[in-house]
Amino acid sequence: MLEADLIVVNASEVATCTGSAGPEGLAPIRNGAVAVRDGRIVWVGPEAQLPFKVRTLEATRVDARGGIVGPGFVDAHTHLVFAGDRAREFSLRCAGASYASLLAEGGGILATVRATRAASEEELVRLALPRARRLIAQGVTTVEVKSGYGLSVEDELKMLRAIRALAEELPISVVPTALPLHALPPEGREDRDGWIDRMLEELVPAVAEEGLAQFVDAFVEEGAFSPDEARRLAAVAAEYGLGLRLHVDQLTDQGGAELAAELGAVTADHLEEVSEEGIRALAESGVAVTLLPTSTLYLKCPRYAPGRALADAGVKLALGSNCNPGSAMSENFALALSLACLGNGLSAPEAYYAATAGGADALGLEDRGRIAEGYAADLVIFDAPSFEHLAYHMAVPHARVVIAGGRVVHEAEDLPGCL
Ligand code: NIG
Repeated sequence: MLEADLIVVNASEVATCTGSAGPEGLAPIRNGAVAVRDGRIVWVGPEAQLPFKVRTLEATRVDARGGIVGPGFVDAHTHLVFAGDRAREFSLRCAGASYASLLAEGGGILATVRATRAASEEELVRLALPRARRLIAQGVTTVEVKSGYGLSVEDELKMLRAIRALAEELPISVVPTALPLHALPPEGREDRDGWIDRMLEELVPAVAEEGLAQFVDAFVEEGAFSPDEARRLAAVAAEYGLGLRLHVDQLTDQGGAELAAELGAVTADHLEEVSEEGIRALAESGVAVTLLPTSTLYLKCPRYAPGRALADAGVKLALGSNCNPGSAMSENFALALSLACLGNGLSAPEAYYAATAGGADALGLEDRGRIAEGYAADLVIFDAPSFEHLAYHMAVPHARVVIAGGRVVHEAEDLPGCL
């Protein structure tokens, strides 16, 4: 007998995301149902075939009311934990100042570093919680969160402990990434190599020892860090069994995609300025790409990452909100989904796949991002008539019920509704 403690019924469509990436990836089931037990999916199929015994059990029945059901979003790139804000800089940028010049003048990321250093671990958690809750309300059930605003051994550890404490407070999965090479802090200016040495020789081992992160990351860019500095980080990360993610080719083509391929990075993120050679290198190496179109819009970059060309070349794609105080102050994952279509050139089903199965693959999560037996029961009921609609009706809340680990973690009181 199939036993379930929660079943989702009355869905017009269940996107399982069990196909391979591409237009057919959603592998939808018309009039589908999903049965869950102890936080795991135990059955998915057409509701008419729902095993009779399940229907008679005292399982919580969640009525999709004719809406669509899919895996929860995997937000594969965020900087959710920070203090302070950069509203004034936003205004200056809108009026013509550049992101890179603000950083060079000691603002930008460094302004957030000052505020984050001044905040306690508890305060950082308190500030991050409402941001995370806004993501959950959008249907996010897994979120990657980076450090990178501490930039001293002590402050990076404080940030990573705040991320761990945040994870304990949240009903969704959190994947932590240490970002020691985000920007050079003032104390690094006089002895750049010495500062980098401390990050690599003191911070990375401490992160590994305390189990504070699964990945390390670097911002490879003019005015940030060089490919050679990222190579040094990659070597230390490998020594400590940490995976590598990279911010590359965001503002200028630094050969970052080729670097990610050379270093066997797990993901290369941003890529607005990637070259054709870079796309080829990613495709050949199997490095996944996280598209971050909200920041492309927010920084008024001249072009979006070439998602279409990357997908056509066979590169695996994920999607992130990139929620952060400087380049993407938005928890609106639905906006990222629409921009992945409008800006990066994905079809709506491709964007949804990147935002779910693609993100799980890019974070190395083998039991997330799909609706299939044995997978974590991270599901969203969207008040929308089709998966195209999620991207089409832009930047509005579509998630009516969000289920993480088999528990209802968010229910929208009154959605305007598209049904
Ligand atoms: O992914 N590009 C570097 N890092 C972040 C922005 C961080 C900030 O501006 O505070 C990003 O866009």
